[in-house]
Amino acid sequence: MSKEYNITLIPGDGIGPEVTEAATQIIKEAGVNIKWDVVEAGAKVMEEYNTPLPEYVIESIEKNKIGLKGPITTPVGKGFRSVNVALRQKFNLYANVRPIKTYKGIKSRYDNVDLVIVRENTEDLYGGIEHMIGDYAAETIKLITKEATEKIAKFAFEYARNEGRKKVTVVHKANIMKFSDGLFLNTTRNVAKNYPDIGFEDMIVDAMSMKLVQNPEKYDVLVMPNLYGDILSDMGAGLVGGLGVVPGANIGKDIAIFESVHGSAPDIAGKGIANPVATILSSVMMLKYIGETEAASRIHNAVSRVLEEGKKLTGDLGGNATTKEFTAEIIKYLK
Ligand code: NAI
Repeated sequence: MSKEYNITLIPGDGIGPEVTEAATQIIKEAGVNIKWDVVEAGAKVMEEYNTPLPEYVIESIEKNKIGLKGPITTPVGKGFRSVNVALRQKFNLYANVRPIKTYKGIKSRYDNVDLVIVRENTEDLYGGIEHMIGDYAAETIKLITKEATEKIAKFAFEYARNEGRKKVTVVHKANIMKFSDGLFLNTTRNVAKNYPDIGFEDMIVDAMSMKLVQNPEKYDVLVMPNLYGDILSDMGAGLVGGLGVVPGANIGKDIAIFESVHGSAPDIAGKGIANPVATILSSVMMLKYIGETEAASRIHNAVSRVLEEGKKLTGDLGGNATTKEFTAEIIKYLK
């Protein structure tokens, strides 16, 4: 057994409890000794605490510094603001990292995608600066700061260097939003000058969308403001077999929360058929982050093997295995 870690676990809504249970079970079987501090957030605690993000969740993350999180449902067009966005802003988890990779065994039009979306996670149109103008218009402010852009650009280049990647592409719409996206582009260009060993190019977000569909294998690390990152992450998931397989990390200075790209999937919640891969791979990112690299690569290899064999895939990947059967198969290969 390794040393003991204290980590916050937010099971979340919908399929969240099912997929986080799969991940924690696999981590335990891999021999990493984690004492989970399980805290609930979202709609289910709203009535009792009058907030979807009670203080005990904040305190737990502040204390443990690391969290594994299931998805949390956000009411659309009304109701409380996103708990996910609130957590990212509260702890200044400025970098959202989402590796988009094809695995053998998963049906997709492409067979060699291996790119990483680095999304600025705290500002842009997600700052919540919005209001009605009478009842005839509404305004949402897109705020981009030089400080946050410098941080995310440096993060993207450092990530590229540390992970042995070759190129960073900055995605923007600076031809139209000359000030906000212009600042994002120019600031990133300046940061790029400090990384002559890493290739650099810029791409307008609409062209980027087309090129990702045509030749996703040409791209390596993509860095972009919040909204484009949100949209291109789901599109990226579509390139490699869907939301069930794309993990993610929200990283700040000394706090990090790991969660998949997908949401609470209310259409399949409680049926025991959710694909746990995205959350398991998010926990692999978490294990790497805390230094448990051996266990991380053992779990990663076991996941790759189960996907490649294709015998126990969940419905979204064309199989008919349950979450539990899939998880058991991964555990078999950990040994
Ligand atoms: P969603 O990601 O929950 O689902 C989109 C589609 O993908 C659905 O058909 C769903 O069944 C499928 N899917 C997603 N994850 C899957 C998995 N692991 N295995 C198999 N199929 C899977 O997106 P949707 O429906 O737009 O959002 C539902 C709720 O989740 C909303 O309230 C949204 O705000 C919230 N959400 C929360 C996130 C978070 O907590 N980080 C991220 C994205 C959405």
